[in-house]
Order: sequence, then C-alpha cells, then structure tokens
Amino acid sequence: MHKHHSALGVATALKPAAPVTLIRPQAAARAARFFAEKFPGRSLYAVKANPSPDLIRTLFDSGITHFDVASIAEVRLVSEALDGRGKLCFMHPVKAEEAIAEAYRDHGVRTFSLDSMDELEKIMRATGDATDLELCVRLRVSSEHSELSLASKFGVELGETRELLMATRQAADALGICFHVGSQAMSPQAYSDAIERVRAAIVDAAVTVDIIDVGGGFPSVYPGMEPPSLERYFDAIHRGFESLPISYSAELWCEPGRALSAEYSSVVVRVERRRGDELYINDGAYGALFDAAHIGWRFPVALLREEDSEEELTGFSFYGPTCDDMDHMVGPFMLPADVKAGDYIEIGMLGAYGAAMRTGFNGFTSEAVVEVEDEPMASLYAERMPERRRATVIKLG
Ligand SMILES: Cc1ncc(COP(=O)(O)O)c(C=O)c1O
Repeated sequence: MHKHHSALGVATALKPAAPVTLIRPQAAARAARFFAEKFPGRSLYAVKANPSPDLIRTLFDSGITHFDVASIAEVRLVSEALDGRGKLCFMHPVKAEEAIAEAYRDHGVRTFSLDSMDELEKIMRATGDATDLELCVRLRVSSEHSELSLASKFGVELGETRELLMATRQAADALGICFHVGSQAMSPQAYSDAIERVRAAIVDAAVTVDIIDVGGGFPSVYPGMEPPSLERYFDAIHRGFESLPISYSAELWCEPGRALSAEYSSVVVRVERRRGDELYINDGAYGALFDAAHIGWRFPVALLREEDSEEELTGFSFYGPTCDDMDHMVGPFMLPADVKAGDYIEIGMLGAYGAAMRTGFNGFTSEAVVEVEDEPMASLYAERMPERRRATVIKLG
C-alpha cells in the first residue's frame, strides 16, 4: 500500500494519469469508536456501503465486531477478512436458499432477516429446522425524512405483520424486529416514528421480542446536507427503545453503512478538458461517481494546486471518461474559476456507495489506492479541522 501525507501531495508528487482512491483508515477508526462508545446498543457495519477488506479490519480493530451482510459473497468476504472473528448477520430479506444453507453451515451465521412467510419457510428448510436462530422480521416504515428511499422494496405490510411475528416467534430462539428508515436520514424523527410502528406491531401480535434493530440511515455530511449531530439520533432511539413493551434483557442494534464509511475514501481525478463550465474528468458515473450522476448527489470538491487559486468559486458540472452522455454529473461542484485541463481535483466523502460502485465499463477503471494522513473533506467526528482544509471542508458545529 502506498502512503502519502496528503491529497495535495498525491497530486503534486505522483501526477497520476488515472483516478486514485485515497483511503483514510484513521477517519474510519474514529467513526467506529464513536459508534462503539456512544450508540446505546450494538452497531453492525453494513458491508454493502464499502466492502473493502482493509476497511472491515480497521472497523473491527476499533470496536465494530458485528457485520450486516446481504449476499453470500459478502459472508465469505468478511469471514476471510477477519479469519472468522466477526459475527455475521444476514440481513437481506430475500435470500437464495443455497446462500442461507452455506452461511449457516460453513460460516456460523445464526441471524437472518425476513419479511414474508415464504422466506421464513425457506430459512427453516435451508437450516434443517435449526433451533438456534435469531430471526428479525423487517417492518415496512416510511422514508419521508431520508434522501434515499428504502420504503418500497422490503418490509412486511401492516396487515400481515401479526401473523408473521407469531409464526417467527414459534420458529426462532430469539425474535427480532428490524426496519430501515431510508439512507441519509436528515432527522432523528425518522427513528422515533419507526419505533412507534414497532410498538404497534408488538402490541398487536402480543409476542416477546428480544432484539430491536433500527437499521442504517445515519447521515454523513455533504454540500447542502448538514444533519443534526449523531448524538441527537442516538438519544431519540434510546428514548424510543426504553419505552417499548419488551423484556428488560432485549438488545438494541443498528446497522450503519454510510456513517461508518463515508469519510474513509475520496478520489483524486484529473481534468482532461474544459468546455465553458463543464469539466471532462477521468472518473464518473461508471466509476466512483454513480450517485453524483444518477441521483444528483453533491460531493465536496477541492482543487489540488500547490499555490491556492485566488479566483472566485464557480459552479461546474463534470463529464466522466466514457462515451455516454449519461456519464454526466450535474453538480454544481464549486471550484475556482480558473480551473483548467491538467489540474487535479479531490472529490470527497466517497467511502460510502462510491468506491464500491466502480465498474470497468469502456475500459476506464483504476485500482490505484493511496493511504493518506490528512483529514477527510468533511467530518461528523473531527474535533477540529486543520487550517488548509477549513475553506473547503464542512464541519458540524
Ligand atoms: C438492511 C440494510 N441495513 C443497513 C443498510 C445501510 O444503510 P446506510 O448506509 O443508510 O446506513 C442498508 C442499505 O441499503 C440496508 O439495506
């Protein structure tokens, strides 16, 4: 692994012709410690956000010992990355029967989620009617406070919840209820409302519940999206959990993906051409900028030049390197007005659902990874940002 002091150093010393992913293990470790110390229960890392084995080991070493996996490939990946030391929870509500069987038999997975009778029967078949299962029923909840909805695809409907909870209680050693409020939830109210839905389900089914899993959705910081502090989310969840009609030994879990990984990575790209306020860069929609292209997500950007530009910040859009019109990131991305071909730009906060989305379409991909020591471009966790990055970074007060 190459190491460098800073993003600026990577651009000026290496002058890379292809995009370079920067990783900041210290930022991921800080996020992991924050959740391990302050969340009033257990935190599972949602591996889909960024399946890098290095990141998984960093999180484990900093107190995240449980992992939300969604495919058999993720089960194998985490088992291998941690030599079997992590506890895996298979939280995709629709799984292949072979995947359940392999996870149970070969990887010691005992925790599975489900949102239908069909899936319950499938899990019981695949595990040979095991009696040591933790089964979490996923409720459908609103995504109204979140930037990315997860309200349509999964989650049992109100009218079917009672029957499914009662049947799962019969089959499970431990019964859980889980939900997902949608990604990048901008208000703690999202969790309070969902917990009210959990309360109604428990009262209606009159079952004993052992696990409440509030899922992912914890936000990170992006331009135009500055959420309240995570402590406020944790307080709302703790209050809601304490007021539920569950046994005193019930456990509280969460499954953050974005909040644990966003600050881990950024990408250094080169401007290959400028056309007015459009910059043709060497990464894009089929690389680490999927969300920027497809859902108009805005990421922080900084021009990496030895001499800071004195020019005003101007809004630019980006074109990626492939031949598709769709390889277009509207932005606006705020950069000094004199940005030109040959300049390097750091695009920040790509650790979650950025680095993980890279494809090799059109022959444009890059394996280059450099570890840097400087702060990420924005942080939910940093006490103080250094002078140089203060102009461009976003810090929650
Ligand atoms: C079941 C489950 N848990 C956790 C997550 C992670 O969500 P986030 O990255 O918003 O924290 C997801 C994301 O899709 C998910 O589907």
